[in-house]
Amino acid sequence: MGVFSFFKNKNKQEVILPPFDFGYIEVDMHNHLLPSIDDGAPTMEHTIGMLLKFQELGYKKLVFTPHVMQDCYPNTPEIILEKLNEVKTEIQKLGIKLEVKASAEYNIEDVLMDKIKEKKIIPLPGNYLLFEYSFFSKPQQTENFIFEMIVHGFKPIIAHFERYPYYFNNEQIIKKYKDKGVFIQINLLSIIGHYGPEVQKQVHWMIDNGWVDFVATDCHRIDHLEILQKMSSHPYLHKLKDLDLLNQTFWE
Ligand SMILES: [Fe+2]
Repeated sequence: MGVFSFFKNKNKQEVILPPFDFGYIEVDMHNHLLPSIDDGAPTMEHTIGMLLKFQELGYKKLVFTPHVMQDCYPNTPEIILEKLNEVKTEIQKLGIKLEVKASAEYNIEDVLMDKIKEKKIIPLPGNYLLFEYSFFSKPQQTENFIFEMIVHGFKPIIAHFERYPYYFNNEQIIKKYKDKGVFIQINLLSIIGHYGPEVQKQVHWMIDNGWVDFVATDCHRIDHLEILQKMSSHPYLHKLKDLDLLNQTFWE
């Protein structure tokens, strides 16, 4: 695992932290490991490399969540499940000790409404539905989507909440989502600053206030896991242990 690191505590004393044990999280519930159906793993070889790295980091279970986005990645439950089976065959062949399932990361767009109504969705275990917005423009009609998800028996999880610039430092919106029954997921890479200082500031603020339900790698390529491993003694990774994370509780 990663190297030991120093940081200064409130009394300005240097404290040495050991690497964070990712096995504590146990389940990675948002990643792009299924080969060649989105902007994640381009081939099965890449998928296998990432699976081995997850195993090395101490993870036990993974839920694959490829993008479902009409224009770029029009993935259907059939396409996703077929890829899952291909990966399961490789896992067995290679003796990799990971349990795997598949779901998806649904883009909020008009066609999603029909999919929700017709239940053409592969939810995460426990009927959770992971959804994402555009990073560039504030989403419209969010209340309708969330209402429909809940009415149709899904538990909405908003993906990488800390990465939407239009929600930076907005306590009110976080509370509004939580009041409506939306769960909040953050990316581990945000914690160590991979998406820049503003996203990092936002995620630290969310962790300090306990506004986090799920954490995930959102891994698209092996570098993401290597960066996490290298930065694994970051103090805010250790702070995850103070949160009531749901990662371990939702696997059926
Ligand atoms: Fe993602």
